[in-house]
Amino acid sequence: MPEVSPTAPANPGPVRVGLVFGGASGEHAVSIRSAATVLRGLRSGANASRYTTTCFYIDTEGRWWGPALADAVLSQATPASPEQLAAALQQAGLSCGSRGLSGFPAGAREVAVWFPVLHGPNGEDGTIQGLFTLMQVPFVGSGVLGSAVGMDKQAMKAAFAAAGLPQVPYACVNAAELRSDPGPLLERLEQQLGYPCFVKPANLGSSVGISKARSRAELEAGLRAAAALDPRIVVEQGVTARELECAVKGGGAAPLQASVLGEICFDADWYDYETKYSEGRSHTVIPAQVPAPISERARAMAIAACRAVHAQGLARVDFFYSEASGDLWLNEINTLPGFTSQSMYPMLWAASGVDLEALVHELVSGAGEWQNLPDGEPTA
Ligand SMILES: Nc1ncnc2c1ncn2[C@@H]1O[C@H](COP(=O)(O)OP(=O)(O)O)[C@@H](O)[C@H]1O
Ligand SMILES: [Mg+2]
Repeated sequence: MPEVSPTAPANPGPVRVGLVFGGASGEHAVSIRSAATVLRGLRSGANASRYTTTCFYIDTEGRWWGPALADAVLSQATPASPEQLAAALQQAGLSCGSRGLSGFPAGAREVAVWFPVLHGPNGEDGTIQGLFTLMQVPFVGSGVLGSAVGMDKQAMKAAFAAAGLPQVPYACVNAAELRSDPGPLLERLEQQLGYPCFVKPANLGSSVGISKARSRAELEAGLRAAAALDPRIVVEQGVTARELECAVKGGGAAPLQASVLGEICFDADWYDYETKYSEGRSHTVIPAQVPAPISERARAMAIAACRAVHAQGLARVDFFYSEASGDLWLNEINTLPGFTSQSMYPMLWAASGVDLEALVHELVSGAGEWQNLPDGEPTA
């Protein structure tokens, strides 16, 4: 047996990461693909000896499942089938449709760091961050405040406006305003924003429920469609602009850092759900071919946007850039951006010299740093 010096630190062994994916969200399927990429990063190169990963799957009903089902879902790359769920429920002694606390799946207690890879409502919005905070366990990404403010387009826009960041003109609407005569509301929006304008439910993502209105009839129809999904609605002046994106990481001991910019180019009037998820309808250009001062302005704005909503760890910040006027507007922040092998977030970092292995290591090793900082402030 090799002699061990009494002063040498005991080898702590690999850190156990709890990778949580799926979720009760319209972006459930994308989350599975994102988690597969994060898992690949956790298992590549030196990460293979740094980390050991236990996977947890949240089904579309919000139930948590341990590695037996989670690993199957990851390898099949599609949501759990009704048959798989029925079998899992039976094995857990639960009845179909059961909700609430049925205990965490086996393996959860051993997790040292949680890595939520959940997009949209019930995961990107502060909910799971609240659970981890309550349990006093470190997790990757923004805390409750950054996640919640970043998710809700009304709150996000208010935070950006308070920070003096440029945005296209917009108005907030509450679904209740549509219940009585919508005439005065429609008139106000027409006067404030004109046509075309974009109607957005505040809390969805992936362009779900978003519509472009070119007339009063379309505006009213768009508002009613959005109101069916979310009581909080944002209406924005439509602009003709290129769509740029910037990845951000850091915010704890490491300063917030911005990647090179990417551009989303697509074959459609706007980047709607169908265009986003149809093969061959869109492509990315990295680095974005824009003048250097625009790129620098966007990168600085991406960091300012993170500070404005208190986003940390990772975020993707999206912009509209008008070549005609030179305007650069902030569109939105995503605090748990798509992380599939074709997603902008990992691709922007790869183009900035940070490969998947290094990126995932940085995200996990920075987890929870800011949770312990007295003022919770990023250092840069
Ligand atoms: N004000 C706007 N002017 C022009 N296009 C817009 C505007 N707002 C949204 N869009 C189009 O709609 C897409 C989705 O809007 P976005 O606010 O990014 O929602 P999501 O959070 O669902 O991605 C954008 O990528 C863009 O193509
Ligand atoms: Mg978007």
